[in-house]
Amino acid sequence: MAFTIAIDGPAAAGKGTISKAVAAHFGYAHLDTGLLYRAVGAKVIVGIPAVQAAKSLQASDLDDSTLRTPDVAQAASKVATIPEVRAALVDFQRAFARRAGGAVLDGRDIGTVICPAADAKLFVTATAEVRAQRRFAELQGNGLDTEYETVLADVKERDERDMNRADAPLKPARDAVLIDTSDLNIADAVQTAIAIISESQSVG
Ligand code: DC
Repeated sequence: MAFTIAIDGPAAAGKGTISKAVAAHFGYAHLDTGLLYRAVGAKVIVGIPAVQAAKSLQASDLDDSTLRTPDVAQAASKVATIPEVRAALVDFQRAFARRAGGAVLDGRDIGTVICPAADAKLFVTATAEVRAQRRFAELQGNGLDTEYETVLADVKERDERDMNRADAPLKPARDAVLIDTSDLNIADAVQTAIAIISESQSVG
């Protein structure tokens, strides 16, 4: 039977790492839905209209290695405010969520809009400063020349836009369990998530 796990939260809270580890632990497929918006954002940067890009998205557009830059992240957050873009990406995400064998989807609106009936819902968060510090270290590790203050401003700008858009804003579903990773290392955050999901599997 399909079991769907929804993991939402702001940028760099650790939801990607947690989602991958949770998917590996339970043997489920994982979809990073941010990549869909990043792929659309990357197309807008090269001049393709956002709605057209969203409607014609291909699996080959989701190449992770080219989509992890700050410019693409900001473009993704901007295209994500356009209702027609969001609508064009709904069916793919819901089909993925229903796949036999279980699925983990991470994003901003999975527990609220894409999979409101998900079997387990987590909302992963951390302070903006901690998230910016992590993202800064990650960007530096990838050889990008940047400054902490710039990354912090970027994180705050994206939070603001993602939380305040009219269509599917970033917010915890009413039945989501919150995990604040500000003071947790990766292993503890992953263990916490697995424990919460295991609990909902035994109840459900
Ligand atoms: O998770 P991420 O940082 O890769 O997401 C990039 C942007 O995409 C994010 O700032 C907002 C948007 N997004 C969204 O609106 N809904 C989702 N389910 C996932 C991402």
